Amino acid sequence: MRKLIIATTNKGKFREMSKALEELPLQIIPLPSHIYVEEGEESYWENAARKAMKAVEMFGEIALADDSGLEVLSLGGFPGSRSKRIGQTDEERINTILRMLEGKGWEEREAIFRCVIAIATPDGRLERAEGIVRGYIAYEPKGEGGFGYDPIFFLPEKGKTMAELDVEEKNAISHRGKALKEAKKILQRLCNECK
Ligand code: IMP
Repeated sequence: MRKLIIATTNKGKFREMSKALEELPLQIIPLPSHIYVEEGEESYWENAARKAMKAVEMFGEIALADDSGLEVLSLGGFPGSRSKRIGQTDEERINTILRMLEGKGWEEREAIFRCVIAIATPDGRLERAEGIVRGYIAYEPKGEGGFGYDPIFFLPEKGKTMAELDVEEKNAISHRGKALKEAKKILQRLCNECK
């Protein structure tokens, strides 16, 4: 069976990705060792593509990587591709956003999660998949599931934060789940081509 390297050291991302891709005829492998790819000021796509290509270069197998971020509409899309850099820990990052929105009503709390996935192959192909989910920044964190900003990302149609969903429920509606649905089709095609 061919291998697929999931180029992330984030356990939450790995859990969601391996669950969504489990039916593929590919052996899903976590990143065997840390690869350091500096995330620059570039776009989500450039960061994801760099990570996936680096993993292919190191391990010689198909690789998938993502770059994602939170975009608060009333803050002009902030923090966006800087989502990881606005604090040292998830708690600090959450508090940064909550402070910036202090005293603001729901209409100023509208937000998007965006995920861009890159799939790179040893024969030099590079494919892209993308997904978004719309929600609101909650007034306080709630829920123990997920990771990152999930405890403050409120989904009005569920009446819950993203952190109150289990991995399958999150994948069914999330930015990453949507991108992974596209990625699964691309990987299926790549598998068929190399038969
Ligand atoms: P990156 O894609 O690893 O660069 O993530 C950027 C920031 O967004 C990190 O602080 C992540 O914890 C956060 N993040 C990425 N994906 C999610 C998600 O699905 N839910 C909540 N936070 C996320």
